[in-house]
Amino acid sequence: MSSTSQKHLNFVAEPMGDKPVSDLAGVGDVLGKRLVEAGFDKAYTVLGQYLVLKKDSELFKEWMKEVCQANSKQASDCYQCLNDWCDEYKSTIQLYESECTSVEKERWLFDPQFSNLPSRDPIDLQFKDVTYTVNMGFRKGRKEILHQINGKFPGSQLTAIMGPSGAGKSTLLDVLSGYRKTGVTGNVYVNGRNRNLDTFRKMSCYITQDDRIHALLTVLENMRIASDFKLGNQLKPHEKEARIEEILTVLGLYEHQMTMSGRLSGGQKKRLSIALELISNPTVMFLDEPTTGLDSHSCTQVVNLLRFLANQGRTIICTIHQPSAKLFQEFDEVYVLAQGKCLYQGSTDKIVPYLQSVELPCPMYHNPADYIIELACAEYGTDKIDLMVRSMENGECIRWLKDPSLVMSLEELRKIYPLSTNAKDDSSLEATSPLSQLKILMKRGFVKTKRDTTLTHLRIGVNVFLALVLGCLFVKAGNEGSRVVDNYNLLFAILIHQSMTTMMLTVLTFPTELSILLKEHFNRWYSLKMYYASVTLLSIPISVVCCTIFTITIYIMSGQPMEWSRFGMFFAISLMMDFVGQSTGLMVGAWFDVVNGTFLAPTLSIPMMMFAGFGVTLRDIPNYLRWGTYISYMRYGLEGYVGAIYGEGRATLECDEAPYCHYRYPSKFLSEISMRGDQFWYDLNALIINFVFFRICAYFLLRWKVIAVR
Ligand SMILES: Nc1ncnc2c1ncn2[C@@H]1O[C@H](COP(=O)(O)OP(=O)(O)OP(=O)(O)O)[C@@H](O)[C@H]1O
Ligand SMILES: [Mg+2]
Repeated sequence: MSSTSQKHLNFVAEPMGDKPVSDLAGVGDVLGKRLVEAGFDKAYTVLGQYLVLKKDSELFKEWMKEVCQANSKQASDCYQCLNDWCDEYKSTIQLYESECTSVEKERWLFDPQFSNLPSRDPIDLQFKDVTYTVNMGFRKGRKEILHQINGKFPGSQLTAIMGPSGAGKSTLLDVLSGYRKTGVTGNVYVNGRNRNLDTFRKMSCYITQDDRIHALLTVLENMRIASDFKLGNQLKPHEKEARIEEILTVLGLYEHQMTMSGRLSGGQKKRLSIALELISNPTVMFLDEPTTGLDSHSCTQVVNLLRFLANQGRTIICTIHQPSAKLFQEFDEVYVLAQGKCLYQGSTDKIVPYLQSVELPCPMYHNPADYIIELACAEYGTDKIDLMVRSMENGECIRWLKDPSLVMSLEELRKIYPLSTNAKDDSSLEATSPLSQLKILMKRGFVKTKRDTTLTHLRIGVNVFLALVLGCLFVKAGNEGSRVVDNYNLLFAILIHQSMTTMMLTVLTFPTELSILLKEHFNRWYSLKMYYASVTLLSIPISVVCCTIFTITIYIMSGQPMEWSRFGMFFAISLMMDFVGQSTGLMVGAWFDVVNGTFLAPTLSIPMMMFAGFGVTLRDIPNYLRWGTYISYMRYGLEGYVGAIYGEGRATLECDEAPYCHYRYPSKFLSEISMRGDQFWYDLNALIINFVFFRICAYFLLRWKVIAVR
């Protein structure tokens, strides 16, 4: 085999698996020999596709030229050449035949880089004395989770953070990515300089453990939206498409691009999460448990992909549980945590000698990864953990790294990476202008609204159903003097429906949106303001549609006065109640999870109902509680409805169904319930003020939440 072992050709053919090139001889001596002659020493399977990937493209071209010349073909047409070359094998080597046939269908990539993702300078990440403390709550003091740990993650490497559950892996990832800011002390250095979070966020991305993707969009739609957010106008549309196509192909999602993301398998979702962030070509990628919940084949696929991305110059840091021995070998470095301290930092193949050096030899036939985790779990006593932490100097020791001589001091790093290339100053965190963000968010929102079975279809259905049921129950009650009280009850029922339905829908659906928002906002897709503006704008059309269907049906069926002005007033109050209900839902949904929100939102609405003047008239509410009627938006709603139906000088009601109509004169009824009937505009304005106020409050709660979780 050639001594130039750095030359890698990742020649991919799924059935072969990960084998040294010399083993390819089974496939054909000539092929194996040629690869070895050309200095390639390893063959990999990448995502089960036929890909030719390599580190040094110049070398590959040279080699191709040779192969082509040997076949007296034009070197410029490599694709053709490879196919011809394959054809040649087809005739001679039976075993290789199936692979060669597929080659024509599959894609070959000649370039070691993603040809559409420009390469970046590697990023060296180091951290020193990092401590993370959380507040345990009132009078419970503080708890330290990470204890002055140190570490060095060189560029172009795939690093695994391992450790037992609760060791602090996710916390460390949160701290390094900058997702967690409060309670963190110590220093994180990027290429030798103190991390500037804004700059660092532009070159990094964080892929959370749970897949936070829009289930109602297809893979391709998700990718397009992400590229619009992350690339803006940097690239022309066809360049964006090319980039998307390439990423989807390499990640094995090309065939699934028209599948709804919600219907993808776990492994595919994981790859989509990675694909979405790859669009902006980040140099540093943090992944929290990318393999958890995946079968061994999908695990291998994901880790191979990460390996491939690291080979391209990216710094990849991920947390991982229980890797198999084979998978474990794929990682360059491993960082083992136990109880918030560093047990081991170094290359995967040096674990065994390291354990020997601390006199905790790994038993024969034991996976070293398993053994070190057993040690970290204190299965062999806590004194072993202390011993290892001490010998590792809590992550300061670099002796066991793959190549300690390559680890540079901060000073050396600063020299290599001058300031100008390290700090690109551009004040805005997002890649696109606020207006474009709003446009993209609206576009995405419309597609989702169209497909959403709960927020749209069910909501329209509920409105139709309720309008029909209430209409049948209170048929022609609106103009009948003997049924004024019934009609008043109907107005209250409409009021509750308008505010509660939208409120509860928002409380139930917003927390799911929120988790995606947190991820996308952290990864700089859009600003919170634009997100909120889009939520507000998108809610208008669907509310108007539902409200129109409901009010027209109920208004006609229950025989309310057929006057345009009264219908207009009735509609306006209904719509405003809908908006106010939604804003209340947003306030609760922004701050509480689904369970607490579902309990709190209706509970908080009860006082609003009490103060509406329905059960106890406004006149009878004791003076010391009268303030409640001013803060109850339901009071304005009910008063507005009553004003629209019985106020504004309504004529005498009909009295067909009973010999005596107590409330034949609407004014009598109005004085009975102590409402004036001429306060429509006052009520409408009060509702508008409530709406604006709640919306603003919900925005600040959301902002607070976004900051508080970090
Ligand atoms: N806000 C908090 N308040 C109290 N304890 C916390 C808080 N956040 C994290 N912890 C504790 O910090 C420790 C580390 O948590 P972390 O989520 O980083 O663990 P992990 O190593 O990622 O575990 P797993 O493998 O189970 O995901 C845990 O013991 C956890 O209970
Ligand atoms: Mg975790």
